[in-house]
Amino acid sequence: MSEKRTITVAKGDGIGPEIMDATLKILEAAGAPLNYEEIQIGESVYLNGISSGIEENAWDVLRKNKVFLKAPITTPQGGGFKSLNVTVRKSMGLFANVRPCKAYTPYVHCNFPKMDLVIIRENEEDLYAGIEHQQTDEVVQVLKLLSRPGCEKIVRYAFEYARANNRKKVTCMTKDNIMKHADGLFHKVFKEVATEYPEIEADHMIIDIGSAKIAHHPEMFDVIVSLNLYGDIISDIAAEVAGSVGLGGSSNVGESVAMFEAIHGSAPDIAGKNMANPSGLLNGAIMMLVHLGMTEYAEKIENAWLKTLEDGIHTGDIFSEAHSSKKVGTAEFADAIIERLGQKPVKFDAKVYDPNAKPPTVELKPRGARRKKAIEGVDVFIDWDEDNRNPDTIGKRLEKCNTSKLALKLISNRGMKVYPQGMKETFSTDHWRCRFTKTEGSEVTHADIVELLQAVAQEGFDYIKTEHLCSFDGERAYSLSQGE
Ligand code: NAI
Repeated sequence: MSEKRTITVAKGDGIGPEIMDATLKILEAAGAPLNYEEIQIGESVYLNGISSGIEENAWDVLRKNKVFLKAPITTPQGGGFKSLNVTVRKSMGLFANVRPCKAYTPYVHCNFPKMDLVIIRENEEDLYAGIEHQQTDEVVQVLKLLSRPGCEKIVRYAFEYARANNRKKVTCMTKDNIMKHADGLFHKVFKEVATEYPEIEADHMIIDIGSAKIAHHPEMFDVIVSLNLYGDIISDIAAEVAGSVGLGGSSNVGESVAMFEAIHGSAPDIAGKNMANPSGLLNGAIMMLVHLGMTEYAEKIENAWLKTLEDGIHTGDIFSEAHSSKKVGTAEFADAIIERLGQKPVKFDAKVYDPNAKPPTVELKPRGARRKKAIEGVDVFIDWDEDNRNPDTIGKRLEKCNTSKLALKLISNRGMKVYPQGMKETFSTDHWRCRFTKTEGSEVTHADIVELLQAVAQEGFDYIKTEHLCSFDGERAYSLSQGE
């Protein structure tokens, strides 16, 4: 028998306490060698004025125990509250979110009986950096940040996961036909890393058609790796296509800490009614047991769960006259699993875990020398709402601001070139991106940009931000405008 491990648990909000009690009861009945240390998170903590939703001393508990089984929580609506899930994932460096989605036909309705895919979602970067600004009366901005190490970590994890779990194919999904630099980096790193795993097929899909294929041909996928936002969306689609959001578990894996949960939320509409399906959290707990190397308990619980499903004992969300024999509540469903501990499913394949399998680990390749960066120009963003927003007026006035080093090249509005020679049909907001590029033969410094900004301010313009236009080792590292 394995040595006893202490893990952190949080019962969360809504259906959280019911599904956590059911899950812990099953873990205990199976004899999983675990001790539990409970922390408070979620609504009650938010409402005590802690905007992160987690008490300060809980961080030490998470760090000490390293493994966290978490029930869903309710994020209060309105400003000021930060998503606890995002905070925990980012603070603890949980870079990989692993979400298996599998069909359990005919006992759980799904149109795709062979569906068995795993979504590996980047968990720390992308639009979830949560950096947003209202820049003009009309325009808000959110920053989408991707880093090379961030992309490399998740892509390597996906291939390592595929290798460790005997999966044959990894599909990368991005929108790099539009975001050539950001999503382009993710795709580029994917192509590089794929060459190190020749035994695994690697392909790429644009996220829009990829999502459509998940909805209509999920059986064609094996492992999917994607950016944070796309991964979030496609994993909910996949879970629903597989049968119910109530079934899916997920792991959030970092270098030292890992968190396990259901993919669904706190379901306030059915909270306290003994109606919730505890399978999502239970599947999260099974992933946790595998992570801890307690595969014999993972196997025992998963097989009892499969047997319960095929015996037709179902909670309301997966109940059907055709395939269910009995509709049960949360607690009775847990008891039915407990009764079947030690049994194997007859119609489903019994689950077998390799006791010697190691969880996937990721080692980043050492980076070469930093590339040489040079400033090729600057985009100055301006809030301007005069003269019926005539682009020729702002263009002519900005040309007066040219310095010996930097000259106005073009102006775009929401990414579309409007000056010089814009099209009269193009709609303009009060947010202007004014691109100044370096003059022939000059070398641009920060002082040159400051000189330009002073001229822009003196001309009476409200500049709201700048972005340097850089090259790395002489290669352009910024996008062109539409129409440039
Ligand atoms: P939800 O996932 O809680 O519920 C969506 C629908 O699925 C509801 O009709 C619900 O009754 C049903 N459902 C969910 N889990 C179920 C289960 N185990 N058994 C049977 N039916 C189930 O999503 P919703 O309503 O958008 O969010 C509710 C709250 O949960 C929000 O405050 C949200 O912020 C939070 N949330 C928390 C997450 C987490 O803690 N990891 C993840 C997603 C949402």
